Amino acid sequence: ARPFAYQGRSLACSGVALEGLAQKFGTPLYVYSGDQILERRNLFAREFAGVDHTVCYAVKANSSLAILKLLAQSGTGFDIVSGGELERVLRVSNDAAKRVVFSGVGKQAAEMDLALKAGILMFNVESEAELELLAERAAKLKKKARIALRVNPDVFAETHPYISTGLREHKFGIDIRIARKVYRRAAKEQWLEPVGVSVHIGSQIRSTEPFGAALARVVDLVKQLRKDGLNIRYVDAGGGLGIEYGTGNFDPAAKVHEYANALKKAMGGLDVHLLLEPGRFFVAQAGTLLSRVLYTKVNGTKTFVITDAAMNDLIRPALYQAHHEIVPVKQSSSKKTIVADIVGPVCESGDFFARDRELPAVKSGDLVALLDAGAYGMSLASNYNTRSRVAEVLVRNGKAKRIRRRETVDEMLAQEVL
Ligand code: LLP
Repeated sequence: ARPFAYQGRSLACSGVALEGLAQKFGTPLYVYSGDQILERRNLFAREFAGVDHTVCYAVKANSSLAILKLLAQSGTGFDIVSGGELERVLRVSNDAAKRVVFSGVGKQAAEMDLALKAGILMFNVESEAELELLAERAAKLKKKARIALRVNPDVFAETHPYISTGLREHKFGIDIRIARKVYRRAAKEQWLEPVGVSVHIGSQIRSTEPFGAALARVVDLVKQLRKDGLNIRYVDAGGGLGIEYGTGNFDPAAKVHEYANALKKAMGGLDVHLLLEPGRFFVAQAGTLLSRVLYTKVNGTKTFVITDAAMNDLIRPALYQAHHEIVPVKQSSSKKTIVADIVGPVCESGDFFARDRELPAVKSGDLVALLDAGAYGMSLASNYNTRSRVAEVLVRNGKAKRIRRRETVDEMLAQEVL
């Protein structure tokens, strides 16, 4: 079931009315359904049940501690890209570190040290230079680093160019054609243990076909590496499974089924432990950004709806021309609609949530919900225009809990020196 549905004429999150939450905690406000996050997690568990695997949720999609804790409690691992994200994981779980993979093209020595000491499962190494530094840090700390190379498979995946990563022209990974040579070099390092091969071709990928194509290339490489005498035990298939942001029909269970089948087929019975790094698929549709209409106005031929949320709270429309459905929290009995730009208070023309969008006629004081905002919403929020980062609420089993309070102006200014 969709977590955001009307009860009577009032929009609710897993049974909790959004209007009450706006009154209690103010707006803008992120509201998440913990129930749906776990449902999505369970879909993965069900579809990959026959496969030796670990789900490593991509922390960057939504890094809220309460959400990480919810996932850690269900045995989920994590894909991290910084020392900061590792700290988050360590703070919510005593044993999740051994299910952590560390991705990213720019890992620094201090971050490597933190991960080595925490005993993470695997580093996804993205360059020869990084391999060298990691070998040095591991030797210094006398901690074996289990590694995979993140290979760049040169597979095209249809998505926004800013979030496509699997082509040679992108900064990500190591050219799969030279991977074998780099593995040979890694195998000579006393403190490095090559145990896996990783791939990640991009994000918000709707077709499951490119995932299969990329993984098939990885499987070939694993076979070669085993011939070279390496004990490769892990294949990390990355994340990237897309969702439906529009109003079209979307069956998440069928999507995961199709995705799992594509991966299983590409694996072809290869005996390895599969790692998966979904982010968006778990949290996007579980979250909404709740906002109040401040003003409406007409400039020439255009109507503007100005909300109290802005691009600093949800940057996806500005950055990727992303579509988010915008719906009124209270459904009116009138069928009247307007065509408007829905914009925030930030001083940039790029500060919009939608352009020329038809929506029910809203007026000052009305609440609107920006749907499917649970992934890459709060985690990309900033203080631009000296706006406080907003509060977050998590709904579980019919109960709403504030999991982050609104930032105060004092907190925003605290690091500055006069
Ligand atoms: N693994 C790696 C190595 C990644 O770089 C990412 C996302 C994921 C997993 C998770 O991908 P997902 O399952 O969430 O698609 N800010 C953009 C998305 C950036 C994705 C970055 N990497 C957006 O709002 O669409």
